[in-house]
Amino acid sequence: MVSVLFVCLGNICRSPTAEGVFRELVDREGLSDQIRIDSAGTHAYHVGEPPDGRAQAEAQRRGIDISALRGRQAIAGDFNAFDYVLAMDRSNHQNLMRICPLEGEDRLSMFLEFAPEVAQKEVPDPYYDNNFDGVYDMIEQAAQGLLADIRAKHL
Ligand code: 4NP
Repeated sequence: MVSVLFVCLGNICRSPTAEGVFRELVDREGLSDQIRIDSAGTHAYHVGEPPDGRAQAEAQRRGIDISALRGRQAIAGDFNAFDYVLAMDRSNHQNLMRICPLEGEDRLSMFLEFAPEVAQKEVPDPYYDNNFDGVYDMIEQAAQGLLADIRAKHL
């Protein structure tokens, strides 16, 4: 079993979208019993809440349902529980480094490292600028690259 944790700030926009997109891809490839997927936020503002309505609407427009997901905060133990801990932006990465045990550091990456064809290195926060459509496209690209990496190294 390979495990993947997507992390953003609030766990209501980017990381639940990534969780939903990646789960859909993994299901479609028949790999759902081999890859465990979750998401979390570096901050606790939205713990227990469903994804932002705009993220839910964008997901629905693209054919996936993320309405059942609930926010939770990332914890140090996530670095033992997950093989991949994937930060959406540099700020998330820095915040994760603060809670990451030394031996867990090699599990932490920027999600867009798996989308070298995307010019940006960070998934921009859509909470204020409403670019849920652009964020979804980036996440889809990186999800493909992530699955290719998992296939090459773990399956
Ligand atoms: P996310 O977006 O990190 O992609 O879930 C945000 C959600 C909430 C806030 C900021 C970003 N906030 O400040 O509450």
